[in-house]
Amino acid sequence: MYPSIKKELERIKDLGLMRSITTIHGPQGPRVRVDGRDVVLLCSNNYLGLASHPDVKRAMKEAVERFGAGTGASRLVSGTMSPHRELEERIREFKNKEAVLVFNSGYHANTGCIPALAGRGDEVFTDRLDHASIIDGCILSRAILRRYRNSDTNSLEGLLKRSKARRKVIITDGIFSMDGTIAPLRDILWLARRYDAILIVDDAHGVGVLGRNGRGSCEHLGVEDDPCVVEIGTLGKAFGCFGAFVAGSRDLIELLVNRARPFIYSTALPPAVCAGAVKAVEIVKKEPSLRERLFENIVFFREELKRYGLPVPEDMTQIIPIHTGSPERTVAISRRLLERGIFIQAIRPPTVPEHTSRLRITITAEHTRDDLSLAVRGIKETLDEWGYQ
Ligand SMILES: Cc1ncc(COP(=O)(O)O)c(C=O)c1O
Repeated sequence: MYPSIKKELERIKDLGLMRSITTIHGPQGPRVRVDGRDVVLLCSNNYLGLASHPDVKRAMKEAVERFGAGTGASRLVSGTMSPHRELEERIREFKNKEAVLVFNSGYHANTGCIPALAGRGDEVFTDRLDHASIIDGCILSRAILRRYRNSDTNSLEGLLKRSKARRKVIITDGIFSMDGTIAPLRDILWLARRYDAILIVDDAHGVGVLGRNGRGSCEHLGVEDDPCVVEIGTLGKAFGCFGAFVAGSRDLIELLVNRARPFIYSTALPPAVCAGAVKAVEIVKKEPSLRERLFENIVFFREELKRYGLPVPEDMTQIIPIHTGSPERTVAISRRLLERGIFIQAIRPPTVPEHTSRLRITITAEHTRDDLSLAVRGIKETLDEWGYQ
């Protein structure tokens, strides 16, 4: 009926880039049910296991009883309910910031915050490995997009030096989502101050995980108190729920309320989601043992990789990529792993740059040593079958 759509799909297929959806039966956890079998799940961002935490679930159930299912409108119309306010206050205390605004997702936060801070005639500076939602936010902003080499502050400085823009905004992932490396935030912040730029750190994967108190990459690298840093965090990853937040100055948050279109023009998060996230923030604050367990698992997994002669990334984070060649080969390896009871997603362009298809492995606090050993053995055997060097 639509030949052009068919043609486009064929092109995607020919490039080995066709995506498919795998259904998980039952809750998220270290093992999940796929096609009637239990498999070890190593591609979820539920890093602390809070997606199925009994206290989080209870908080959500109680909130459904008290507040109902939906919000009926955007936050500015009739959608701001007391759980939204409570969540913002709890995150504000946790992050130790002046003010916080909750968004419906990290995608919304980036596509709302970036265009609110940069517009026509301004320049936005993004790391080449920044998440797609950051790039989309930059495109929506209509500012001039300048991309610097991954974590390369010389490359960033070269661009900043040449800029004549009225307003400059630098945006970087805290932990790069597909690589697991940590951005050099201290050096980037130094450049931001030197060139009078705003710095946005999208810490989707760092918050709840890094830092002595779990406050994320900025805490980990000692830059969280700088007033020129705007932090974005998600509630759908380490916090196990859904939603996101922007944390910064009171003025910034007021500007977002007035300018961030996904905040203004989209129905607000269900109150039960906010109540679950309030509980999750409380758990992250009160139970450092979850982070400790996560890092014990990361260390163990890295040791297992070493034992089997597989590459071990430099940065100690929960995201571990293994480069696997072409997109087709990466999908085939991922399928074979699933047959072996190990679910690791094949990550291909355009999620990652051309020629860098990979398995993206994520470790959680809930995995057992058995889960992790089985996974590394399975990865090694599968890669050997494919002649991996
Ligand atoms: C760095 C980064 N930012 C933003 C997002 C989007 O967050 P959300 O899933 O809450 O929309 C992601 C999601 O994977 C991400 O990795």
